Amino acid sequence: MSHEIKQLMAKASNKAEAYELSENIPINPSTTATMGDVINQRYARRSVLRGALAVSAIGAIAGPAALLSARQAQAATPRVSFSEIEHGADGTHHVAEGYNADILIRWGDPVVPGAPDFDPYNQTSWAQEQQFGYNNDYLGYLPLPMGSDNSDHGLLFVNHEYTNEELMFPGLGKQDRKANFAGMTQELIDIEMSAHGGSVLEIKKQTGKWKVVKGSSYARRITTRTTKMVLSGPAAGDDAMKTAADPTGRHVTGMLNNCAGGTTPWGTVLTGEENIRGYFWTDGDKKKVAAHYKRYGIPGKWYAWGKYHDRFNIDKEANESNRFGYIVEIDPHDPNSVPIKRTALGRFAHEGANVIINADGRVVAYTGDDARFEYLYKFVSASSYDPKDRAGNMRLLDEGTLYVARFDADGSLTWLPLVHGQGKLTTANGFVSQADICIRTRQAADRVGATPMDRPEDVEPNPKNGKVYVMLTNNSKRKADQVDAANPRAKNNFGHIVEITPDGGNHASTSAKWEILLKAGDPSVAEVGAMYHPDTSSNGWFASPDNCAIDGQGRLWVSTDQGKSWGKTKTADGLYAVETDGALRGYSRMFFRTPVGAELCGPVFTPDDQSLFLAVQHPAADGTKDYKGFERNSTFEDPATRWPDFDDKMPVRPSVVVVTKKGGGLIGG
Ligand code: FEO
Ligand code: CA
Ligand code: CA
Ligand code: CA
Repeated sequence: MSHEIKQLMAKASNKAEAYELSENIPINPSTTATMGDVINQRYARRSVLRGALAVSAIGAIAGPAALLSARQAQAATPRVSFSEIEHGADGTHHVAEGYNADILIRWGDPVVPGAPDFDPYNQTSWAQEQQFGYNNDYLGYLPLPMGSDNSDHGLLFVNHEYTNEELMFPGLGKQDRKANFAGMTQELIDIEMSAHGGSVLEIKKQTGKWKVVKGSSYARRITTRTTKMVLSGPAAGDDAMKTAADPTGRHVTGMLNNCAGGTTPWGTVLTGEENIRGYFWTDGDKKKVAAHYKRYGIPGKWYAWGKYHDRFNIDKEANESNRFGYIVEIDPHDPNSVPIKRTALGRFAHEGANVIINADGRVVAYTGDDARFEYLYKFVSASSYDPKDRAGNMRLLDEGTLYVARFDADGSLTWLPLVHGQGKLTTANGFVSQADICIRTRQAADRVGATPMDRPEDVEPNPKNGKVYVMLTNNSKRKADQVDAANPRAKNNFGHIVEITPDGGNHASTSAKWEILLKAGDPSVAEVGAMYHPDTSSNGWFASPDNCAIDGQGRLWVSTDQGKSWGKTKTADGLYAVETDGALRGYSRMFFRTPVGAELCGPVFTPDDQSLFLAVQHPAADGTKDYKGFERNSTFEDPATRWPDFDDKMPVRPSVVVVTKKGGGLIGG
């Protein structure tokens, strides 16, 4: 606590008065906490924000009227100025008043030239290879022409993370692992494999409305079933990467479970292979597998692909799983380009990767391992970005240093190198090469003492303020004796956001400072222990931050993924604008809400901040007993909503939404 605050607190006549007068601070102090504890907890290590801190403390002591006038005097104008929408849940999407939220493309819509129209009752893998895939996640906007900041014409890269067979296929229902996925024929599995991957769309804004350009020469589907990819970096060619189909260990077909991602300044996208474990199969007991598989949860048996495709059966192909779990770099500007798996960035459940050019020209990529008690990583390239050498830039992510984060209680962060031969990562300790570290990255990170986090998802550097924002979704499994300063809540059901400040503004530095920007959950429920700016309304708080976007003005937007627990918060997932700087730091406001059972992914702005693309993923999928009317498990025939078509013959369809301001203007004001 700062000296000024100590002085202010000393003036409070008694603790009870301080509590009463600070009732709008959304932490309900326990009977044993002092006001100092409350403020300290709320504004721990926030020395740079003395203004905000002082305002709250003055309010706490002098009463609501003083609080208001002090705020008026000191608070910055809210940097977002839309009318907040309300928490809730129904069958459709909602956006703040004064904005349009239009459907851009839906699962099954034609993508490549000559693609057949969608016929959900006669699906084939051949058709799906040419149509928009399932469960749109990451969205990357790349202006056309390349290198411009055109906000009316560009490429949209889309991840198709996974499939929901019960919503996709007529007459099937949810398949049961215990029943060996009895309804899943090879034909249906091949459709699933074609529905995974990515799409490249050319999109254009004309008379204020965005459209997908039909027959575009850029249009492309990337699929798990057919797209040939290359493995590069330290692990490429390693013995552990060799399979019967690829004795070189350098070529692989497809990518799996691509979740979030980022665009690079050289016009490519980086997409993260996340939950790869679910696709691997064993005919035996999945709990009795080698330690190497276990650390990655392989085989998860979420899908029955291994029944028909030997490469997904670990009994038949021991090494195929080593070839998934990477950041994949794709050049959407060239429809014939070969996607490249960058093994130098490590192998884990990559949510995504976001790069920033460091002041010295080196490229720094931040990437999270989205699983409970997993780690936060960054990669620093050996060479520098050269705006005139695109081909050279496309090799930057093959050579450099991978680091994993250790968060200390004093607010410092140390980036620990994962380099063979350094520290504990020696052959004597079982790490035989850099390739080994790039394949068994989790084990290497365990060994160097990284900090287990509450599910690190999207991680984005903000070029405007030089800080880095880490979405930590939740971790219901963290026990009271496992809490630490950076993951301070046991049974963390709602997640939090950590802000990192690299030392000296140097993203390549091995040291940084960190603090918690906010703790998610309902601030009116004391046990939740949420922390926001006190002006945040009863609609502005959120749960389970997952993806984020930094707009052109450096403002943070956060999308949520609550899973089935949306019933407990009584609101569908959505998009929230979060203030990071100034007197309103930690203030959050709801901008967009999904239809029931969906999560919101991929927020991305055009360079002019006048268009915002959003991916509505798995609408209707997450039924919940906690919310009347939506307790059932949806199927193709009986979904909780038929969004976005609302046609009884059409299944519910994951779709991309584009938001614009009516009459034009900045999103969020
Ligand atoms: Fe695919 Fe971490 O969400
Ligand atoms: Ca995600
Ligand atoms: Ca993002
Ligand atoms: Ca998620």
